[in-house]
Amino acid sequence: MAFEMKLPGIDFNTPVFPSTRYMGSKAVLREFIWNSVRSLEFQTVLDAFSGTGSIAYLFKQKGKRVYANDFLALSYHITNATIENGTEILLPEDIDYILSPRAKHPRFIEENFRGLYFTDEENQLLDRVSANIRDLECEYKRSLALSAITRACLKKRPRGIFTYTGFDRYLDGRNDIKLTLEEHIRRAAQEFYLAVFDNGQANKAFWVDIFDLDAPYADLVYLDPPYVSLRSDNDYSRRYHFIEGLARYWEGLQILNHTTTKKFARLRSPFDSKRTVYDAFARLFKKYEDSIIVVSYSKNCLPTKEEMIELMRSVKKEVRVESFTHRYSFGTHNHKIANEFNLVSEYIFIGI
Ligand SMILES: C[S@@+](CC[C@H](N)C(=O)[O-])C[C@H]1O[C@@H](n2cnc3c(N)ncnc32)[C@H](O)[C@@H]1O
Repeated sequence: MAFEMKLPGIDFNTPVFPSTRYMGSKAVLREFIWNSVRSLEFQTVLDAFSGTGSIAYLFKQKGKRVYANDFLALSYHITNATIENGTEILLPEDIDYILSPRAKHPRFIEENFRGLYFTDEENQLLDRVSANIRDLECEYKRSLALSAITRACLKKRPRGIFTYTGFDRYLDGRNDIKLTLEEHIRRAAQEFYLAVFDNGQANKAFWVDIFDLDAPYADLVYLDPPYVSLRSDNDYSRRYHFIEGLARYWEGLQILNHTTTKKFARLRSPFDSKRTVYDAFARLFKKYEDSIIVVSYSKNCLPTKEEMIELMRSVKKEVRVESFTHRYSFGTHNHKIANEFNLVSEYIFIGI
């Protein structure tokens, strides 16, 4: 391996998934989810709302044939790079090429996002890198590179969100904030390099609304949609609009110029509102009634736990509930450690 800047303490022979603080990521629940389903008989899995891809990746590691879907391009490129792809990697010369200067390229980020999230130099870098990535011939290398730049932006950004503007608020001395954006991109490229492996299966990544998905039959369907909750927002396109825009280079997205964040028009999902979510679950369960259905669920959401079980029972004879309580980390707020208020119960419902 010819990487100049190796990640300390990393074994380059073991595939490792690059987790993030993405809202709703189930990375910390991998063991719980696997222990809850391992005794079931299944060879093919659909992760229908894949987000970071952490659960699709878990099933890939367990040797299953995996189909992963999400309606965000951001998520699609991660699963295209790490679930469908099993062989292509970004070589050091690819990374150097992606970061290299070029005479002409669009300046969309520089012109539209000046002073909002990154410095002028960083915006120019993102415009240039985006153009270079689109020159890569291999689609998996493009997805690896797009995953690396979106991950780099997420890490460089204080709190990892794009719902506020300015870049000196929340500076907390974290190493992630101190590294340059270019260093973050190189680092993220290496992390995705480590994630690529072949499990011998024909895995596939999709990028559509779940109700438009036409994937092959899967023995087990894992559902982790956004939930309507009184406590937190579940609007992915608002929170992550900049990196979703970056993954598509804003193609087909309409920036709302009157907004301070310059977000694009919300990507609507029927899982977003109390009014549509019940019907959405009913249709979803109907769509996958022939598969084992596994649903991730946290407390204080709609539908309620009882309503979810009822909805699942309309298509499944047997519904099992497994629960897991864990303590949420509040970053630098050490005084909150061991506080009962940051204990969270997570559930999965298994319909057989
Ligand atoms: C709770 S997150 C999934 C997290 C994922 N399990 C993980 O571990 O990272 C929900 C995901 O559903 C996606 N989503 C929302 N509505 C969707 C729809 N109608 N079709 C497909 N994906 C959708 C969002 O983009 C988001 O990534």
